[in-house]
Amino acid sequence: MKAALATAYGSPDVIRIAQVPMPTPKPTEILVRIHASAENAADWRLRSANPWFVRLVFGPFKPRRPILGVVFAGEVVRTGVAATKYKKGDKLFGWTSLMKLGGHAEYVALPETGAFAPIPAAMSYTDAAAIPFGFGTALHFLRKAKVTKGQRVLIYGASGAVGSAAIQLAGHLGAEVTGVCSTHNVELVRSMGATHVVDYTKEDLLAHRDRYDLVFETVGKLPFKDCLKLVKQQGTIITGSEMPAQMLARLFTGKGGKQAKVIGGTALSTPADMQYLAQLCAAQAIRPVIDQVLPLERIVEAHARAESGRKVGNVVVEMG
Ligand SMILES: NC(=O)c1ccc[n+]([C@@H]2O[C@H](COP(=O)([O-])OP(=O)(O)OC[C@H]3O[C@@H](n4cnc5c(N)ncnc54)[C@H](OP(=O)(O)O)[C@@H]3O)[C@@H](O)[C@H]2O)c1
Repeated sequence: MKAALATAYGSPDVIRIAQVPMPTPKPTEILVRIHASAENAADWRLRSANPWFVRLVFGPFKPRRPILGVVFAGEVVRTGVAATKYKKGDKLFGWTSLMKLGGHAEYVALPETGAFAPIPAAMSYTDAAAIPFGFGTALHFLRKAKVTKGQRVLIYGASGAVGSAAIQLAGHLGAEVTGVCSTHNVELVRSMGATHVVDYTKEDLLAHRDRYDLVFETVGKLPFKDCLKLVKQQGTIITGSEMPAQMLARLFTGKGGKQAKVIGGTALSTPADMQYLAQLCAAQAIRPVIDQVLPLERIVEAHARAESGRKVGNVVVEMG
């Protein structure tokens, strides 16, 4: 089968397309023919070993699992002898898993209990592939923050994969949502349901007198001390993209007298999360935001775009 391989850490150019053996499903696994995947922060961070501790988990000198890709949309083509949850022909979308990877290939073998679910009828593979990463991450954090109706929620980095999902999910939960983005994304963020949009290139967010029940920092660009200024006394801050240096800075900053709750760490999705997102897609309560759709052969471009920090929503990779 055809796959995109990263056999060394480095720039997007380390990736090449090659023929590799088809995976064989174990007894409780399913074999999925992938139609579309997405290229996102997990992939470019693994490929470039950024942050450094990627090497501790994925291999000190080169990636142990050269086929990247943490999400997929595809069709079951075979089931292991003891796999009963899905059948041949089922269309699924979700995570290959952060540890297993393998989504940037024509086929992947996955445990049938993985974090995926049937694709809603009428949804394309391309659209479905743009759901798991951003929405799965946003759902994990918004649930932890226990967002409720009427709360004032600030989403910083509102046009990224996680941000564009967080805007929609927080709105769906009944929150009054403020999105922060640059000028060219203002209309998009508004169209996703944000009640207020702040253009950070024109306005000083900190000059606003508004304070929020939840500040969700999705892109690691707003310093923690500024999150503290924006959150209410007993509000919540989600540090969705905190790197080691930022974590240290946060620990030194303290909470400046605020009794705010801080939520961070790695987001994990479950099959139930993917079913829930499928229901929201079917009800048209949420929609994927897609920056570009590229064939697998152009995966180097997809990596470069994702790493640029400027992509709007998701870069989808089609297997062809
Ligand atoms: N904790 C976890 O488990 C977890 C899970 C997923 C992702 N993450 C992390 O979350 C981060 C975001 O991921 P993502 O895929 O959503 O990112 P992304 O899609 O690459 O984000 C791109 C967006 O960031 C915005 N942006 C860039 N600079 C900005 C700034 N200074 N202020 C405000 N917005 C800015 C851009 O909008 P404008 O052009 O409008 O500025 C762009 O649309 C990544 O670092 C990733 O590693 C963590």
